[in-house]
Amino acid sequence: MTREYLVRGGKPLFGEVTISGAKNAAVAIIPAALMVDGVCRIENVPMISDVTLSLKILEELGASIRLLNAHTVEIDSRHIACTRTSYDLARKIRASYYLVGSLLGRFGQAEVAMPGGCNFGGVRPIDQHVKGFTAMGAKVTLESGFINAAAEGGRLHGANIYLDVVSVGATMNIMMAAALAEGTTVIENVAKEPHIVDLANFLNSMGADIRGAGTDSIKITGVPRLNGGSYAIIPDQIEAGTYMAAVAATGGELLIRNVIPKHMDCISAKLMEMGVEIEENGDEMLVRRSGKLQRTNIKTMPYPGFPTDMQPQIASVLALADGTSLITESVWNNRFKYVDELKRLGARIQVDGKMAVLEGVDHFTGAPVQAPDLRAGAALVIAALAAHGTTEISHVQYIERGYEDIVGKLRAVGGDICMVDEPEAEKEEARIG
Ligand code: EPU
Repeated sequence: MTREYLVRGGKPLFGEVTISGAKNAAVAIIPAALMVDGVCRIENVPMISDVTLSLKILEELGASIRLLNAHTVEIDSRHIACTRTSYDLARKIRASYYLVGSLLGRFGQAEVAMPGGCNFGGVRPIDQHVKGFTAMGAKVTLESGFINAAAEGGRLHGANIYLDVVSVGATMNIMMAAALAEGTTVIENVAKEPHIVDLANFLNSMGADIRGAGTDSIKITGVPRLNGGSYAIIPDQIEAGTYMAAVAATGGELLIRNVIPKHMDCISAKLMEMGVEIEENGDEMLVRRSGKLQRTNIKTMPYPGFPTDMQPQIASVLALADGTSLITESVWNNRFKYVDELKRLGARIQVDGKMAVLEGVDHFTGAPVQAPDLRAGAALVIAALAAHGTTEISHVQYIERGYEDIVGKLRAVGGDICMVDEPEAEKEEARIG
């Protein structure tokens, strides 16, 4: 039996929301824990289904996993028995590609099922990952749904790698592999997202030598082994942005706790242009919307630009703003799949290629909708909270892969949202960012 969300909208949100650890950092740091010849304790782990799946994959490879408390996991990778992932588990999440970098780095070989992931209009390429591994002396082939990678002579060597596109995944994957390679690797034109810095900090705290994460060029001096240690994952920039967008859409006032305000600048700047008031105080942000929302334009870019992973959620807000707004999606080819669903609620949006034109409406009206993927699902939740009447959102398994207890967190701030069984729902393969 699958579930759906039932949302009775039109109520402003008031109260406090505590942000969980960053999904896109966790799904890289967990595979990176496989590289550690010791025991790592990872804190602030978000309890989302992507994390549960990642931990299961590690367990199948021979790691021992212990949950120390609700958000702390201990991973012991001293006795990894296998470098081939199960096909069924690894292909369910996009981030399983990080297992190639981690296994290849530590053991000189990896066989990982081709990753899944939200399909933003075509196959999501991994050519830049492969380019990096190949430059470090690996032979990489794709066979029977598996990525097979093996280092010549059993260990990778350092290399100079220039990425042709700024890729979060390729930057992190190559960084992992290089951490245990022989010699020095320099990666140029890298991504600078906060989770890149977080992965570098995690690896450095386990004994790696990585410099420059957060700039355009990262230098990694390979070390022979990584030791155990403790590390706390950063707060989730996109989860925080999603709650900020929610209160922007519904009106009200939310205190967002456990955030790094600097990571939020790219999102806060746009919300403030739209008339949202934001006050920063240490690791908290007070977000208030009382007046009418104003139009603006958004173009998604790699960090520190406006994040593509906030594009659907901000669209739900702009669709309610005064005037006509433009959104340009410049990271993915097709990330407007939610538009048809938002239109069911009354949004007026036209998509032309990578651009969407949004003519603000006075209000949305509840209707049955379907979450096409993770962030699109979050956008529908935001729209439903602001809508007059009741909205049923199906396919919420996508949302739960990236948002910890979204229903509980929203209910605690006055959102009228609950989870109900959806007996007739057709089963569909889960997809994820
Ligand atoms: N690209 C290539 N070749 C590659 C890799 C990427 O051409 O080898 C292109 C992609 O097609 C895309 C662009 O480069 O046009 C950026 O892709 P990137 O590699 O940065 O994306 P990713 O690593 O696959 C991660 C997040 C996504 C997020 C993007 C961009 C994870 C697990 N996923 O994906 O998150 O949209 O970075 O910031 O970290 C989400 O959380 O909802 C989500 C989709």
